[in-house]
Amino acid sequence: MILSQDTKLKISQAGTRYPKIRSAILPALHLAYEEHGFLNDQMYEQIAEVLGVKFIEVAEAASFYTMFPKAPRGRYLIQVCRNISCALMGSHHLTQYLLTKFGVKLGETTKDGLFTVVEVECLGSCCSAPMMQVNEKYFENLTQAKVDQLIAEWKAAK
Ligand code: FES
Repeated sequence: MILSQDTKLKISQAGTRYPKIRSAILPALHLAYEEHGFLNDQMYEQIAEVLGVKFIEVAEAASFYTMFPKAPRGRYLIQVCRNISCALMGSHHLTQYLLTKFGVKLGETTKDGLFTVVEVECLGSCCSAPMMQVNEKYFENLTQAKVDQLIAEWKAAK
C-alpha cells in the first residue's frame, strides 16, 4: 500500500514546520494513518524518504504508540483503558463484555468490519473511569447499558 501524492506533499509540508525534522515524524504518521487506516513498512519507508530520516526512526515512533496499527481495523476502533483507575472501576469487565458481545478476541475485528476492540494504557481521563476512546472521541463513566446504547447507535449509523 502506498501513500498518495497528496499525503506525501502534506508530509513534506509538515517537515518544514519544525526546527528538527524528526519532530515531523508523528504528524507524518497521522497523515499516513488518516489515508489508509493502518500503517505498514512500505509506508514507513515512504515517510522516511519524504522527510529524509531513517526508516528505523519512523518504525520506532510508530510502534511506540497504539494509535498506529499495522493492520486494518474496524470502522470503530474501541480502545478500552486498562490502567489503574479504569481497572478499579471495572474496565476489564467492560472489555470482556464487548468481546463476548462481538464474538471476537482482543485485537480482532468483527465480521461486518465495524468494530475492533483493544486495550490501551491510561488515556488521561482517570477521573471519569471507566472510559474508552472510540476513533477520536472519549466515552466516559461507562456502564454496560451505556456501552450497549453506543453500539446500537453505531450499528444504526452504518
Ligand atoms: S486510568 Fe483510565 S484514563 Fe487514566
